[in-house]
Amino acid sequence: MNVLVTGGAGYIGSHAALRLARDGHRVLIVDDLSRGHRAAVDIIQAEAPQRVRFLQADVADVRTILPALREERIEAVLHFAALAYVGESVQQPLRYYRVNTAGGIALLHACLEAGVTRFVFSSSCATYGEPADDLIPIGEDCPQRPISPYGRSKLHLEQVLRDEAEARCAAGRPWALAILRYFNVAGCDLSGRLGEDHDPETHLIPRVLRAAMGRGPALTIFGTDYPTPDGTCIRDYVHVDDLIDAHVRALERLEAGRVMTYNVGLGRGWSVREVIAAAERVVGAPIPVVAGARRAGDPPRLFAQADRIVRDLGWSPAIDELEGIIASAWSWFRSHPAGYGAGI
Ligand code: UFG
Repeated sequence: MNVLVTGGAGYIGSHAALRLARDGHRVLIVDDLSRGHRAAVDIIQAEAPQRVRFLQADVADVRTILPALREERIEAVLHFAALAYVGESVQQPLRYYRVNTAGGIALLHACLEAGVTRFVFSSSCATYGEPADDLIPIGEDCPQRPISPYGRSKLHLEQVLRDEAEARCAAGRPWALAILRYFNVAGCDLSGRLGEDHDPETHLIPRVLRAAMGRGPALTIFGTDYPTPDGTCIRDYVHVDDLIDAHVRALERLEAGRVMTYNVGLGRGWSVREVIAAAERVVGAPIPVVAGARRAGDPPRLFAQADRIVRDLGWSPAIDELEGIIASAWSWFRSHPAGYGAGI
């Protein structure tokens, strides 16, 4: 299949592009490199030079994207390109709506113009906001009440995509859509080629591992007084390669006239303290931590009811425990202490 991967130079998109290229698909990576890494694209292209093309462009740039979709005879789109910092979205909401929502709408417009009828959208558990206790684990039908501009920017695009899919179906021009709502994605390519390199890095597992390497300060635990068994926040972590496997399965099962919506998580929650303890077992040494204040906007407990994707798509995560996820990240951070930058 000829597949467009937007954000294919970023953490999750690069893992997707590599998997698709390895599976024999032809991949067009579009990324503006505002947050992605050209080095990740080079690695993917080196694996399958005949099958991977890179276009440095903004997904909102319809004049560039539309001819590329036609030229490459794109049949399906995996749309990863987005900004993804909750805190930043609170400070710069317009930027989030412009990039995540308006950018997605522009991309959709180009896809429809080019006759691309298969679309897989990277949404987020952030669209659920802070569900009440009796709605956890969070099923796909849980009311979506995001509490950040980031979550709202993703939900708005979900709604646009659904409305368009419904209208096209009613007009006899059916379109296939899958919406995947990620929980906490972590870990790195098991073959060791690709990894996680964010600047700034805000996510827990990379920060824990940086603290373990002595490359950063002690890890600050954001809040130890939450109403959870050990007082720290609980999240559902999923390995990036398993997340990508969910995309590949969704892609294979896309059906004109149908909208598929799936949570992607392991369906279990781990507290921040449990993540640190698991990382200490992986690293084999104590990790320096300090207890700090709560971070604004962090819900105490978020974990998925994840059986729909297992049932419908036969998704079965290869790594179903936290230590394996952390071990893959540890292997990348140790071999790439400066990420994709100098010093590899
Ligand atoms: N945390 C710390 N110390 C840190 C970093 C994080 O204690 O240095 C805690 C957070 O407070 C939170 C947990 O670790 O309780 C996980 O935090 P992450 O930043 O790793 O991830 P989030 O749970 O904030 O992820 C959320 C949503 C995702 C969304 C992502 C955007 O769950 O869907 O934000 O970056 F994509």
